[in-house]
Amino acid sequence: MQFIKKFSPQLVVESPGRINLIGEHTDYNLGYVLPTAIKKKITLKFAKNGSDSKCEVYSYDLKRGVSFDLDNFTKSDVGWENYIFGVIHEISKKSDKLKGFNCTIESYMPTGSGISSSAALECGFAYGLNELFNLGLNNREIVELTHHSEHNYVGTKCGIMDQFASVMSKEGHVILLDCRSLEHTYIPMTIAPYKLVLLNTNVSHNLVTSEYNTRSEECEQGVAIIKTEFPEVVSLRDVTETMLQACKPLMDAVIYKRCEYVLEENNRVLEAVEALKENDLRRLGQLMYKTHKGLRYDYEVSCVELDFLVDFSKQFDAVLGARVMGGGFGGCTINLVHEDTVDTFIEEASAAYFKEFNIKLTAFEALPSEGTSIIYP
Ligand code: GLA
Repeated sequence: MQFIKKFSPQLVVESPGRINLIGEHTDYNLGYVLPTAIKKKITLKFAKNGSDSKCEVYSYDLKRGVSFDLDNFTKSDVGWENYIFGVIHEISKKSDKLKGFNCTIESYMPTGSGISSSAALECGFAYGLNELFNLGLNNREIVELTHHSEHNYVGTKCGIMDQFASVMSKEGHVILLDCRSLEHTYIPMTIAPYKLVLLNTNVSHNLVTSEYNTRSEECEQGVAIIKTEFPEVVSLRDVTETMLQACKPLMDAVIYKRCEYVLEENNRVLEAVEALKENDLRRLGQLMYKTHKGLRYDYEVSCVELDFLVDFSKQFDAVLGARVMGGGFGGCTINLVHEDTVDTFIEEASAAYFKEFNIKLTAFEALPSEGTSIIYP
């Protein structure tokens, strides 16, 4: 990667990770989510290199680069390269304007911690290429294209939440996103004197992708069964509690509890929005605890480290709610904590966590921030 030594970028893009206040595993079931981008970002620098199709991308954090030809690349065995190739593959379906370029990536966020560094990378990369080569894609197209890239190239059958939050967020707001219609509303995130604190377990169990895809398939199986009685149903979003109860005898117990969780979680998102609007943070916190319970026992995507931290938080009156955030099996808990107790909570949780698992916790405050943006020129 000789180019780095004399690299002078023509374009610099910042692309954020995201949190999700509530609405977990609902996006690929076309339900509701309540995410926002945060001030943990990836910086991508781009320049055209004058060639027709030769490209080089270098990651400072991984200390690795990849060289490829736009007209001739295939899926890679190296995970992060597929985020790059996937985006190019999807762009090529829409435009033939890409030419040779160089790009560097600097990450200021932890990977594998449930704040979606992968969406930050995909979205920042697509956003940058769109700008550099005047591709004329709008933000919605960038969201959809990066979402497809994750399905087609990376192989995670994820919903659209992460890409949507990374690109479309507004500072100081969460997005109530309807994943069926993509209609969205920005809700002001006024929670003072409370703060959102993320506790990163620093574990990422390798079940993440396989179990994630299994959950998605289980929900599809649920839909297929419900469809036999209610043919109008397309996704779990169309299913009412009455329909689910009517179909319960036809379902395996596991499939039933996955579906039940999703229906309940969609309702919790709408209730959380009411609570936020009424500044009823106690209610919001209770909803977060209920989500955790659902993810732990019904959806079964938690793990001992996450459960420990959520249980631990219950000792603090100043913590109104806590739950696993994102796909699960590791990563972060999201906690709603009174500002006066943030430091004590982090200190005590870190000590207890270390004593239990011999692993260091990392903690940070999540501040709702603007989506992907150009910071130069
Ligand atoms: C991961 C996926 C998202 C979403 C969450 C769970 O972050 O990428 O699409 O499904 O898990 O809510």
